[in-house]
Amino acid sequence: MTTRFTLNGQPVTLDLPPDTPLLWAIRDGLGLTGTKYGCGVAACGACTLHLDGQAIRSCQTPLAAAEGATVTTIEGLGRPNALHVVQSAWIDHQVAQCGYCQSGQIMQAAALLSETPNPTDAEIDTAMSGNLCRCGTYPRIRAAIHDAARRLSGA
Ligand code: FES
Ligand code: FES
Repeated sequence: MTTRFTLNGQPVTLDLPPDTPLLWAIRDGLGLTGTKYGCGVAACGACTLHLDGQAIRSCQTPLAAAEGATVTTIEGLGRPNALHVVQSAWIDHQVAQCGYCQSGQIMQAAALLSETPNPTDAEIDTAMSGNLCRCGTYPRIRAAIHDAARRLSGA
């Protein structure tokens, strides 16, 4: 079955079973490997991307859900010469350790800030609670989100 959607601003067409997890459709079908596989059961957040602007777990989202939708992955969140504000804050705070969870963390944080531009610590902790980091980068994640919020506000 053919599925058509917009991926990082470009129209794409995929001929895969509609129940293929979106994660594998994007990684294996389209070759974008920035979105990571962690648990496969929507319990770690490594596979987080945006579907019509919402942060979703692509390991548990069927390809069919993307039909006609707009999908953004870490590869399309910013551009090399115009990083997303969350990516810039992440670099400045040197958030990543091993890095494996970080594309999911960044996509979740970007979705949070699009809905809650100036989140409290509690709002950050709630929004990010499904994104696990075995390296324990949580304090830097929180600091980078606050910094990104400040940049977005122009402060
Ligand atoms: S791989 Fe999707 S939530 Fe863990
Ligand atoms: S940076 Fe290593 S798992 Fe998060």
